[in-house]
Amino acid sequence: MTLIDEINRLKREKNAIILAHNYQRPEIQDIADYVGDSIELSRRAMEEKEAKIILFSAVDFMAESAAVLNPDRKVLLPTLGARCPMAQMLTVDQIKRWKVLYPLVPVVLYVNTLASAKAYCDICCTSANAVEIVNSMKAETVLFGPDHNLAEYVSRKTGKTIIPVPERGFCPTHMLFQPEDVRILKMEYPDAIAMVHPECTVEMQNMADFIGSTSQMCRYVRKSDAKTFIVATEEGIIHRLKKENPGKQFILAYEDAVCPNMKLNTLERLYTSLKEEKYVITVPEPVAKRARKALEKMFELKTKA
Ligand code: 13P
Ligand code: SF4
Repeated sequence: MTLIDEINRLKREKNAIILAHNYQRPEIQDIADYVGDSIELSRRAMEEKEAKIILFSAVDFMAESAAVLNPDRKVLLPTLGARCPMAQMLTVDQIKRWKVLYPLVPVVLYVNTLASAKAYCDICCTSANAVEIVNSMKAETVLFGPDHNLAEYVSRKTGKTIIPVPERGFCPTHMLFQPEDVRILKMEYPDAIAMVHPECTVEMQNMADFIGSTSQMCRYVRKSDAKTFIVATEEGIIHRLKKENPGKQFILAYEDAVCPNMKLNTLERLYTSLKEEKYVITVPEPVAKRARKALEKMFELKTKA
């Protein structure tokens, strides 16, 4: 029996499903029941009614959201150390301090935050719906965190005053992309479409033909007549793009753009995780209750994402 057979056997025996983010290793994407961006995975986890176990192959904050949204299921993260550094950049103490400074300003938090932080916001958003969420708010000024680049993108698109909390939260992987590299690639591939994740710098965003979340990029490519795409997000997405669009060409805008945290998950670790039912992600109910409210508010808005 191969490792994949063993994982599938354990899945059946334990009534488990595997949800995987678009940045997961190709072999994990291939055995997953569902592959998606952060909003799709949260929605899928929230709606899961059959499986007893959700094996969430991604990073900490995504598994936490699944646990918050579906407290009746056991949520497993295959690697305890798979933690998103951006999510660590905003602490509860920091939010409390900003709320004291701006008592009347609503707080919108990117889902790339820990549940303890989400518990102190008015509503959550993802990179797929951040503009719609902020536009839906009556306030003209919004506290927004932790991603400074996404905050700038939202500010430009909505025309509202966005106060970033903390001042310069960022994703180390998306900061690896540089506009100079895209400029050179565009000289080499003049017909290529440049797709940029909003966690990239504003200079990178200015180079983009399309800006969106990982799954929005996948949808964009499927509908586009273009044949070549320059991709500025984590390299894991290339597998899905190639699989869904065999006739098209994809060039990563920086070839070492790897999220080391996402890549901590391996088939071996998924197997052990299912076998030993670890690591169980739990959020204390008082925190979960408040974080759930912020996440559910986001879903209630029925954005296009
Ligand atoms: P998406 O929601 O676009 O998949 O992004 C999640 C993420 O962590 C990007 O770095
Ligand atoms: Fe976090 Fe960046 Fe990795 Fe996404 S790519 S999980 S934001 S470190």
